[in-house]
Formats: sequence, structure tokens, C-alpha cells
Amino acid sequence: MLVEKNAPLQNANSFGIAARAHTLVRLREEGDVSRAVAELRLDRTPFFVLGGGSNVVLTGDVKPVVLKMEIKGLRLLEATPRAWIVEAGAGELWHDLVAWTLAQGWPGLENLALIPGTVGAAPVQNIGAYGVELQDRFHSLTAVDGLTGQAFELDAAQCAFGYRDSVFKHAAPVAGEGAGEGAHGQRGMGLAGRAVITRVRLALPRAWRPALEYLDLQKKCHETGIAQPDARQIFDWVCAIRSAKLPDPAVLGNAGSFFKNPTVTAEQCRDIIAREPRIVHYPMADGSIKLAAGWLIDACGWRGKTVGRAGVYEKQALVLVNRGDRHSERRSVTGGEVMTLARAIQTSVYERFGIQLEPEPVVV
Ligand code: EPU
Repeated sequence: MLVEKNAPLQNANSFGIAARAHTLVRLREEGDVSRAVAELRLDRTPFFVLGGGSNVVLTGDVKPVVLKMEIKGLRLLEATPRAWIVEAGAGELWHDLVAWTLAQGWPGLENLALIPGTVGAAPVQNIGAYGVELQDRFHSLTAVDGLTGQAFELDAAQCAFGYRDSVFKHAAPVAGEGAGEGAHGQRGMGLAGRAVITRVRLALPRAWRPALEYLDLQKKCHETGIAQPDARQIFDWVCAIRSAKLPDPAVLGNAGSFFKNPTVTAEQCRDIIAREPRIVHYPMADGSIKLAAGWLIDACGWRGKTVGRAGVYEKQALVLVNRGDRHSERRSVTGGEVMTLARAIQTSVYERFGIQLEPEPVVV
């Protein structure tokens, strides 16, 4: 466990926002987490877990203790007749895990290639892309309770996964309002600001089938004439699609999709289609309709626009980017500028479509 004071965070967040952590603790092994809980009295001190920093907007110096997750390790835990169960340290890069499993001959994560960030952050927002979500491959995870220092395990049901959502995004109830010891992860009980994920286990089914429902992948099948791609081929396609559409955070700071795709009722959707016949929409299994937030923002004329040093990416309006110098402390975008732009976008989408967009990254 390594404790740093007044630690710079500019290289630790993918937007490249210049901010400092009053206290930053590097967690290299599971024991470090319980040690940090005891030594820094995390039961009474707010803390914030930072993985790859690819889904956060820092709006100033961070006063809560920053726990920088750096626990490594990739291993096959078990080969059952139905699946390979692999385990990864929360501090591993997600893409490295995807590439490693494919190199071992265990397909299943290829649609999730090139998603920035760490393994530990993946369950928090139930990462998803090109028709597959983390929850489709999730087995279980180990976390340490920031109040007690005790390790515990959660299965998929206890993680309460939703679209870009999980139990880790919801605040714990105030003490005395139910949910006592041992109630970890029950639906309705939030673990935000409490659980520190240390290891994640995935089940990669031996009965692998390609997930090709997503339009961009169908186009690739069509263009190449490959109707039955293997996992390696899908991995290459997903990497190519992402690289063409999404900015590389090492070059142009960003936090991926800035808003969630909103869901509306079939009736609301009919009203909108009557006014906007070209609106991109996807019917969901539960009868609701998901709208493409990128399309809504684009339709409001935001694509390619810049306000201060915050901008809307020219190839995908759902991504806000750092138009300042991401390597300079003084010339980089600020979290305030990003949030000002985000609010302006929310207002215009609301005024035109009556839809409230919800930010996807965690705002600190
Ligand atoms: N669109 C526009 N204009 C734009 C952007 C998009 O018209 O400026 C249209 C596209 O033409 C398309 C539709 O909107 O018809 C959807 O766009 P896209 O296929 O790029 O996907 P998305 O819904 O915008 C989601 C995820 C991405 C994920 C992709 C691929 C969310 C919030 N975002 O984006 O995830 O990579 O699907 O599966 O669900 C992330 O979460 O950071 C992320 C990048």
C-alpha cells in the first residue's frame, strides 16, 4: 500500500482533466484494501475508487480518499464441462483480459474489445458494446467492504445489473435505515462508496455462438462475405469499428459515451416519430423503446461544436471531448467546462424532444 499526498490525477483520467487527490492510495494486493480501511479509517472517511479513470469527470480536486486500484492477475480458475471460469484482478486493463482470453482459445468477450478502463470498473457500469453486456458473461466477484475491511463475494443477481447500471452505482442507505450486516448486494441496497471490487470472475461458455445482431457487425459480414466469423475475426472487426468511430483517449481526452441511451414508452415514441420520422429507435424486450442519444444530440446540431475547451466529437455526438491540451495542467479542459457543455446539450435535447438525458460517467 502506497500513500501519496496532493497527487496529480491528470494522467489518471481519460479526459485528461487536471485535478489533484488530497490523498491517493495505491492498492496492489487484496490485503492493501483492508489495511487502507483500518489505517485511513475509511469507515468514517469518504473514499472514491479510481480504476482506469475512463468513466469519470473530475470537477475539482478530490477530497475523498482516492483508492487507485492496481491489483493484477489473470488466471483460469476452473474448466467446467460448460464453461471456462476466468478470474482477473480489478486493476487489469479490460482490453488486456479480452485479448488474453482469446489468445488462450476461450471466446466470449470479443464484442467487448477495446473498451477503455479496468476490469474492476466493468461490473460497476455493466459495460456493453455490439450486442453483448458484461452481465452476459459474468460469474461472480470479490469485493472488500470499506466500512468493515471484510471481503465478500457477489453473484450476478446480487450485483443487480441493468443497462449501464449495478448495485455499485447506488448509494448505501443511511445507517439505521435497514440493510444490516450480511445484506451485501441485495436488490435495492446500494454499495456505492462502500464496496471496493478486487477480483472479477467471468464464465466463458464452451458452446460459443457469435453475437452478430448489431448492425455494424452485420455490415462487416456483408462487406467481407464472411457469414460465420470466428471470435478472432469479430475481435478485429470490433477494434476496427471502435477505432473509426470513437476517439483514442491517449490522443483526444474523452470518457466514452457521455449520456445513456434513454428509454421511452411506445406511446411517447409514437409521438416523437410523428414529429421526427427519422429518429433512431430500438424496441426492447419489455415493450419500451430505446432511443439513440447520439442521434438526438446530433439532431440538435451539436456534433462537432465546441464550448470553451469542451467539444462534441465530430464522428459520434454522444462523446464529449477535451479540445484543450490534455497534457497541460493549465490548458486542459476543466470538469466545469465539460459539465457546462453537458447541461447545454441536456437543455436543447429536452426542449426539442422532451427527453431528459442522463450522464453516464461518474461526476466527482
Ligand atoms: N448516431 C447519429 N449521430 C451521432 C451518433 C450516433 O445519428 O452523432 C446514430 C448512429 O447512426 C446509430 C445510432 O445513433 O444509428 C447509435 O449509434 P452507435 O451505433 O454509435 O451506438 P450508441 O448507441 O451511440 C452505444 C454505447 C457505446 C457502444 C456502442 C456500440 C451507450 C451509452 N453507448 O453507443 O458504448 O460502444 O453502443 O455497441 O450505450 C460507452 O458506453 O462509453 C460506449 C462507447
